[in-house]
Amino acid sequence: MANSDAKRLAASAAVKHVRDGMVIGVGTGSTVSCFIEFLGEMVREGLRVLAVPTSYQSAILLAEQGVPLTTLVEHPSLDLVVDGADEVDSDLNLIKGGGGALTQEKIVASATEHLIIIVDSSKLVKRLGETRGVPLEVIPMAWKLVKIRLEGKGAKAVLREGSGKVGPVVTDNGNFILDAHFPEISNPEALERELKFIPGVVENGLFVGMTETVYVGSVEGLKVLRKK
Ligand code: A5P
Repeated sequence: MANSDAKRLAASAAVKHVRDGMVIGVGTGSTVSCFIEFLGEMVREGLRVLAVPTSYQSAILLAEQGVPLTTLVEHPSLDLVVDGADEVDSDLNLIKGGGGALTQEKIVASATEHLIIIVDSSKLVKRLGETRGVPLEVIPMAWKLVKIRLEGKGAKAVLREGSGKVGPVVTDNGNFILDAHFPEISNPEALERELKFIPGVVENGLFVGMTETVYVGSVEGLKVLRKK
């Protein structure tokens, strides 16, 4: 099974949670793109749903699929949010922000009691930080200061550079991204709070205690992880 099939498998499980009349939050990334395709099919078959996107990427894909968009101003409480992740640990804590959309993703995730995460099995880790750094969205004028503060906490912090443009990645909110590689993340909850506290940090990619269900696609099929 190709990786894209594993993503589609996870996405097809999540789409079964969507009911007529729901207002849902839609995450960002390649796995969520599969979910948006399935959602589009359902909308064309008559499903009535409104979606709050978490990035320009998902807003564009949703519009292309004919899924009507709304905002948290009209709908501050969401029936369901479906998103991808970069890492998932056994407590269903996440690292997100590989695509730079972490801030809007965390805001939208906080607007529901039902956050469903869809991943392929390469995203499962024993400990957060095993395969990547923690992304932080940072106000541009503060990036060097934040980098120094992160290094003071033992992390290697790298200003994320993009493609298609020279220089740093600029997020959908007009900010920079720092990827903070910690030697070990033993307490994700404490670290999430600690990072929030650094002046200039808009948001960090640790999502602790937010996820209800994770659908994992792999060659062996579909696995479901639920909040204990
Ligand atoms: C976007 O910033 C991320 O949080 C994505 O949700 C995450 O990178 C998952 O993306 P893929 O589904 O493309 O792996």
